[in-house]
Amino acid sequence: MTPTPPDHPGPVPSPGPGSGPGSPTGPAPGPGPGSVPGSGRPISRKSLLKAAVAAGAALPLLTGTVALARDSAGRGRSLPPTPTCDDGDSPTHDQIKGPYFKPDSPLRTDLVTPGTTGTPLTVSGYVFGRDCVPLPGVLLDFWQADDAGAYDMAGYTLRGHQVTDSTGAYSLSTIVPGLYPGRTRHIHVKAQAPGQPVLTTQLYFPGEPRNATDTLFDATLLMNVRGAGGGKEGTFDFVLDVEGTPGPGDPTDPPTDPPGGTWAPGHAYGPGDRVTYGGVAYRCVQAHTSMTGWEPPSVPALWARE
Ligand SMILES: [Fe+2]
Repeated sequence: MTPTPPDHPGPVPSPGPGSGPGSPTGPAPGPGPGSVPGSGRPISRKSLLKAAVAAGAALPLLTGTVALARDSAGRGRSLPPTPTCDDGDSPTHDQIKGPYFKPDSPLRTDLVTPGTTGTPLTVSGYVFGRDCVPLPGVLLDFWQADDAGAYDMAGYTLRGHQVTDSTGAYSLSTIVPGLYPGRTRHIHVKAQAPGQPVLTTQLYFPGEPRNATDTLFDATLLMNVRGAGGGKEGTFDFVLDVEGTPGPGDPTDPPTDPPGGTWAPGHAYGPGDRVTYGGVAYRCVQAHTSMTGWEPPSVPALWARE
């Protein structure tokens, strides 16, 4: 299909580069403890968390005030504690979803199917809360144009949703999306922590000429992208406007008193299944296994009110 019109371009504030998630603030750039080795960029608390997660540190450490990493020279000296998250990790900016979103995308991390052409691309990263705690169980729903700049509105090509793992990590295998009239290169995504509002946004590619002319482009939503063999690897960390660690398994955030109904956690629901919750009827729009925190009113991506 010919995907016109574009995603309703309009005036969207576009902060300058370096003002978004993961952007360095705080200590002046320079080598030494607190800097990314060889880069001159200061290490953000979020980066330390990622390093700790990658190193297999227990999640409770991530919320503590202990030092999370060693200095770059390997001298074994601990970095100063970072008791508060004040390194610029403001919530990820939202963007319009545009005209090409479809509910009911399949659960999958690999959007490449037989016949898919284009440059292979992986996108990975973490989803954090506002206080820099990695968020497990976050629903991420991706959709994008194909190599020729067209969206599949008849099926679900290059559409899929996944859930962040216990470390808050996600990974998507796809292709570099093609360009279409009026837009620079981008990937659409919805992100929703259990029981929390949906963030709808888009991810962008650095070095794209159209970034300068697309009125929707937001530099804070740029991925880090590098070449990898014949493909590309992108990384992006989301920061949701969520405090603490909501959802299952958090004893400090118990669900509210069950309002009753036929919905139950731990049940495999499929599209079209009907339940009641709190005296309201809902229809399942995406196959999933229910869990506490994903009560129908909280996850409109999974349940439609009837
Ligand atoms: Fe789009």
